[in-house]
Amino acid sequence: MGSASNAASVTLFPGPLSAADVDLLIVPWFENESPARFESLDRATGGEVSRAVSTHEFAGRSFDVFVTPIVDRSWKARRVVLVGAGPAAVFGRNDARRLATAAGIAARQRRADRVGCVLRPGEPDPSGDVDVAGFVQAVTEGLTLAEFNAASYKTSDDSLGQIPQLTVVLSDVDDIYPDSRARLDAALSRGRCLGESSNLARELANEPGNTLTPCEFARRAEQLATEGGAKVEILDERQIEALGMGLLLGVARGSAEPPRVVVLRHDPADVPPGTPVLGLVGKGITFDTGGISIKPAEGMERMKDDMAGGAAVVCAMRALARLGAPIRVVGVVPATENMPGGRAIKPGDILRSAEGKTVEVINTDAEGRLILGDAMWYARKLGVTHLVDIATLTGACVVALGKTTSGLFGRPVTWVEEVRRASERAGDRSWPMPLFDDYKELLKSEIADFTNTGGRAGGAISAAVFLKEFAGDLPWVHMDIAGTAWSEEAKPYQPKGATGVGVRTLAELALDVDSWVNVR
Ligand code: BES
Ligand code: MN
Ligand code: ZN
Repeated sequence: MGSASNAASVTLFPGPLSAADVDLLIVPWFENESPARFESLDRATGGEVSRAVSTHEFAGRSFDVFVTPIVDRSWKARRVVLVGAGPAAVFGRNDARRLATAAGIAARQRRADRVGCVLRPGEPDPSGDVDVAGFVQAVTEGLTLAEFNAASYKTSDDSLGQIPQLTVVLSDVDDIYPDSRARLDAALSRGRCLGESSNLARELANEPGNTLTPCEFARRAEQLATEGGAKVEILDERQIEALGMGLLLGVARGSAEPPRVVVLRHDPADVPPGTPVLGLVGKGITFDTGGISIKPAEGMERMKDDMAGGAAVVCAMRALARLGAPIRVVGVVPATENMPGGRAIKPGDILRSAEGKTVEVINTDAEGRLILGDAMWYARKLGVTHLVDIATLTGACVVALGKTTSGLFGRPVTWVEEVRRASERAGDRSWPMPLFDDYKELLKSEIADFTNTGGRAGGAISAAVFLKEFAGDLPWVHMDIAGTAWSEEAKPYQPKGATGVGVRTLAELALDVDSWVNVR
């Protein structure tokens, strides 16, 4: 562990490129961009930039990289990396974040100690405004994401160099950048904190089941969130039993490791009465074997990330507390393994939830909704007014939306739309799915209030219908991150493994309460 945030903080440098005191300068380069736009840089490289562009050795296609020395000794930087940014007309904050990560990784591979990334804030919107602060935040997040170490258990690994010092370079600052310095510095700190918190969540989700037991997850959650300024309470198996959380206890029965519930609170002083209280609930299955309805061996190792939703809640709480979100937020993370064993629950068993509703367990592999049901009830009991749950919940959601888009379910549509917008801003793409009342029939049980599975057809939806039973009448959104929590293949901006999805979405939601105070 460790490594998520060893570097000194990121700084902002407003000034000409020649004066940026770094080893390596990253310049995002659009497709069909004329080298005339960076004439002095071209001269400083002895014409290498215009040569590479005119011969099409480098054409600015997304994530292409071209490195060349800076020969002009009056420049402070020694090398420049042009990174392809694609077409300028569609270059947005999410592209800027990814580009910054790809460039940051390229800079580490080249062993640079001090890296400067030139800010290119895309085209102005129709009213002529350029969202400079938004781009500063996104680029800072991206550069910070490049600090992530996915090989934390390798005893020797020199594929990536040390984490460099980072600078965001704003050239031509006074004429084209209207934002005040204070706003840009705030965007920088916000991006740094959100990037670090995403890395911490990735680290937790990459952690294997033998090191990250429910108790260890709870301990680390406490450490992380406390360090951010949130309050943390850990409920042990006796307290969980006293609360009557039969769904969570049912799932935990097959495991030698006891369950935990992590309760996190961000309680800022002087919040006016009547302001909303955001409830964040995250699935914390530290390993999902499927239980008695056991999963096939192939690919089962990935189920160590079945607590990615819980990690997103913990790390979002760290971020939003540290950034001083202006509302109260309560996080609830139920944590347990899902194991087979002589004491494990069996298909056909009936469990009683803390809320009192009874569930017939048809498939013990549909465990996430069980533990979330009790956790959502508990969040409501603690007085939240708006609920969001996040979970690696169904393979069916991966079938429906693939691996780049999380599923959103809930009500009212205005609340779903607020979460979707926060996710878009955060670079955690998501999309709404239907939740019509008709689907409720899928969970019909002869013997209990409902079953825990609804068959293959509409499997992501029937899981959400189950959760809806535990949302009371609050505005509630369920985010299914089964497809997005884990990247099967390395991309220029994302190594294989945990993605940290949801951390920035949940934090942005709490920070941006003004846009949803009136959602009921
Ligand atoms: N953790 C899994 C869902 C999952 C599957 C996450 C693939 C990531 C990748 C969840 O607990 C599960 O097993 N769901 C079952 C539900 C079914 C038994 C109704 C599934 O999706 O197959
Ligand atoms: Mn399962
Ligand atoms: Zn699971």
